[in-house]
Amino acid sequence: MTQRKKNMNRLQQFWFNQAVAEYTSSARTVELCHWMQQLSISPDLIRDAIRIADDEMVHAQICFDVSQAVGCTKKLPIESMRLHLEREFESHAKSLLLVIVQSYCFGETVAVPLFSAMRKSASEPAVITVFDRILEDEPRHAKFGWLTLAWCYENLPQTKQWLPQIVPIALSRMRVAYQNHPPFAPALSEQELAWGIFPRELYGDILEKTIQKTFNQRLVHYGINLN
Ligand SMILES: [Fe+2]
Ligand SMILES: [Fe+2]
Repeated sequence: MTQRKKNMNRLQQFWFNQAVAEYTSSARTVELCHWMQQLSISPDLIRDAIRIADDEMVHAQICFDVSQAVGCTKKLPIESMRLHLEREFESHAKSLLLVIVQSYCFGETVAVPLFSAMRKSASEPAVITVFDRILEDEPRHAKFGWLTLAWCYENLPQTKQWLPQIVPIALSRMRVAYQNHPPFAPALSEQELAWGIFPRELYGDILEKTIQKTFNQRLVHYGINLN
């Protein structure tokens, strides 16, 4: 009984954290839309971002539903969530570029192999439906990041100078977020795997493969070599 209760708690935590992450992602994308409007970025890209903010709210709702299906009764801790984008540089455009590279070029791109791996090891139909919806959207979110970077490179002349400063910051934050996760102890049960929890010690490998396979290939175009 104790073991089962423990497993249920990890499942609840996993889906609750996922709902928090998706809601946060939506809120931050809403703010990104406003930044893009203030900086007069391409209207088509602004509309893509508005659609992404809506997708992420759907992801938040369906993940929250799974958290409740596995018995979680907690509400999202809105007051303590990081729902705002930070202006990290004096230049608004440079701050936007960091958000684009870190969260969309890198974050959304690595989300595709990560969620694919999660979907492969899951078997519960309700969970498969959630992963399928997320996987339907994430490649478009990643594409938005790379297209916005290309637009900035063509239309904001300082992008060329900023990019070599921004890429290492974004990359090291990604590595901090993905690497050195200890394996679950006790190991994940069949039930937990079926309901979508994924061995977190594999996150780092998935990130490194994506850096080599995709980030590197895309950034070479801008004269940046990650090797
Ligand atoms: Fe999402
Ligand atoms: Fe996304």
